[in-house]
Amino acid sequence: MKTFDEIEVRRPELAQSYLALLGAQPGRPLALFAPRRVGKTFFLDHDLAPEAKKAGMLPVYADLWLHKSAPLEAVNHALEEVLDDLLVPVSNVGKLAKTPVKKIGVLGTSVDLGDEPRRRALPESPALRMDALVTRLARQHKGQILLMLDEVQTLVDASDGVAMIATLRAVLHNRRKGVCAVFTGSSQEGLARLMNTAGAPMYQFAQIIDFPFLGDQFLRLLANHFAKVHPGKKLGLDDLREGFKRVSYKPALMRDVVKSMSAEGITDIKLGLGNYVASEQQVAIWMALLNSVNAFDRGVLIAVAKGQPPLSQSTLKDLEAIPGTKPTISKVRSSIEKLKRIGILAKTAVGTRVDDSLFAEFLLGLDV
Ligand SMILES: Nc1ncnc2c1ncn2[C@@H]1O[C@H](COP(=O)(O)OP(=O)(O)OP(=O)(O)O)[C@@H](O)[C@H]1O
Ligand SMILES: [Mg+2]
Repeated sequence: MKTFDEIEVRRPELAQSYLALLGAQPGRPLALFAPRRVGKTFFLDHDLAPEAKKAGMLPVYADLWLHKSAPLEAVNHALEEVLDDLLVPVSNVGKLAKTPVKKIGVLGTSVDLGDEPRRRALPESPALRMDALVTRLARQHKGQILLMLDEVQTLVDASDGVAMIATLRAVLHNRRKGVCAVFTGSSQEGLARLMNTAGAPMYQFAQIIDFPFLGDQFLRLLANHFAKVHPGKKLGLDDLREGFKRVSYKPALMRDVVKSMSAEGITDIKLGLGNYVASEQQVAIWMALLNSVNAFDRGVLIAVAKGQPPLSQSTLKDLEAIPGTKPTISKVRSSIEKLKRIGILAKTAVGTRVDDSLFAEFLLGLDV
């Protein structure tokens, strides 16, 4: 390993355990819960897909966020891409060779190349199309498909989300021999609503799992590389653990902090984090984020960062100080919704909080 950026943790055992769970309950997807930026997508790509392949499955990845207004189309698109790859070899020669010659004209003049490698057209309706695609793909692959649906909370916000969830459920259930699925999402609240809304068809359908954060393995790799770059200097594992917790277990962020500590040659993690939060570059990013919302939203955000109950009378009173606003509970509510939508606030089991804990520290340090 030559740089901090190359540090990667692989979790094949975790992937295998998820595959075993899927195998034990055909037709039931897994829904991986975790806060933002902790490595869900990385895991799907680097661990789950390779392990699925080793087990003879065909992994298909779809990011539903990419097609927010029609998430089922995103799934179908991913399935079609993979089906194309299976059916149509890359070169033209391969394509022709795969097409059996059906008939040679009586006069020896017409040569019919027979069926195109593609079969009859797929149904137009996204729901039927998904069903047909899954079936064809499983048959073509001669093995199970692992459908990995990322940012699945997008379904909650889509206009006909409930119908889409019903479709997904029906396909996964009816085609359970040929397909299994793993869902992940970055909005805990969205995923929770998706899975637990009573009456919604997904209710009790997927198995919800807390996706584990990276642990000591990642921190040791950081410490080892630091020691290599700075012979004689050492990062303590306990300090690293404390720091990792403070950055909400976000590996890319932790790596950035350790990188800047390395640039400064310091080993005190508290100091390193403090410097990082106060650095010009970071402050500029946060100021830009803060300035992207209006003064009222900023007031609400700072109240949340301070740990004040946002809908309390005392918060409303504080917000009166913002010129030109008449704070009401409903205004605060819609401001919170907006801040959640853009990912600044997050809902957790204990209430609403600032998603990025370092940003929260920065907000607390502002002179307001
Ligand atoms: N196993 C890992 N080893 C090293 N770095 C990792 C690992 N997993 C994630 N990262 C780092 O963290 C960053 C964020 O990971 P990733 O995009 O997978 O998170 P996520 O949980 O999907 O985030 P989001 O909620 O925004 O979709 C990656 O770009 C990568 O740099
Ligand atoms: Mg992701």
